[in-house]
Amino acid sequence: MPVYLDNAATSFPKPEVVYRAADEFMRAVGVNAGRGAYKQALEADRIIYETRRNVAKLFNVKDVSRVVFTFNITDSLNLAVKGILNPGDHVITSSMEHNAVWRPLKVLEEERGISITAVHCDVEGNLDPLKVKNALTEKTKLVVLIHASNVTGTVMPIAEVGAIARENNIPFLVDSAQTAGLYPIDVETMNIDLLAFTGHKGLMGPMGTGGLYIREGISIKPLKEGGTGGDSILEHQPDSLPDRYEAGTPNVSGIAGLGRAVKFILDEGVEKIHNKEAALTGYALHKLSGIDGITLYGPKDNINRVGVISLNIMDLNPQKAGHVLDEKYGIMVRAGLHCAPCAHRTIGTIDRGTIRIGLGYFNTQEDIDCLLEAVKDIIKNKDIQ
Ligand code: ALA
Repeated sequence: MPVYLDNAATSFPKPEVVYRAADEFMRAVGVNAGRGAYKQALEADRIIYETRRNVAKLFNVKDVSRVVFTFNITDSLNLAVKGILNPGDHVITSSMEHNAVWRPLKVLEEERGISITAVHCDVEGNLDPLKVKNALTEKTKLVVLIHASNVTGTVMPIAEVGAIARENNIPFLVDSAQTAGLYPIDVETMNIDLLAFTGHKGLMGPMGTGGLYIREGISIKPLKEGGTGGDSILEHQPDSLPDRYEAGTPNVSGIAGLGRAVKFILDEGVEKIHNKEAALTGYALHKLSGIDGITLYGPKDNINRVGVISLNIMDLNPQKAGHVLDEKYGIMVRAGLHCAPCAHRTIGTIDRGTIRIGLGYFNTQEDIDCLLEAVKDIIKNKDIQ
């Protein structure tokens, strides 16, 4: 049986109910939402609303309309970053960001002359909130931070950084790609103004889904304009949420699957999901650290981290090792830089990258045991150049 350990890229498999919800929508409803007065169109509307409500509940968002749907978290981060920053503005971020944050910022640096401070994290990816405070200037108009690194799993001090941003009246944007659904997120207690999320990772929904929570009072220019179903007479995009940011036909089958996925998470409880992942992560870290020839990166215990584990096997090229893990042992992992070169510079692996294990809710201890055996075998045989 193949072993899937790449849940940081996308969760697989999904709960059975998610496949059914997306399939049922396409077969039994299948019509456009917000664009018809007939019963089936209203059912499509209801399904979208239900998903919005479930997502709002998961993140403790009071006003459901402030959760807007996008097509993935890259879309959400681009919307927030490009919709807020203007020529001459300053933004604070970290040295552990994914390209989904870093590349939009670099474009704005070139095109709008923004300035960027990437606060340096330590070799395990930890960020000191004081460094964020010290980086503030009169021109700072946004603080954007990854919640947990997709390279090391390190969890950032979101509530503390959020408090610093709040005290200074600066919007705080969080990239929850590796935490939503897997780690408790409360936009109120964590002082989050903008929460970007993806549907297909920890939220266990289909690809092509994601969104952005936008706190009331935060002004973001939309990335695109177009039809919203209602208000057709207006020549401009309506101001009301979520329509302001949801131009064009949405991915309703995906949103139907996402709604059911989030309900699954709410029924299971994030705490239970987190505890299971923490137990597996602790087991994997403990066993891997006992193997000679393995270098582990990031926090060495399961405290303050998620189930994303980066490692290297001796001096092997991680891409080749990843290939052998798949070909010879049927184990799927991600290898390389994981779209996060900044993080690899921070932890000292920019020259070759790492092998990355991404644990998910449906992984078992046996999956980790398979990996351990495979890794030991590779080290013993030394047969990869
Ligand atoms: N951003 C995803 C990852 O880290 C795809 O693998």
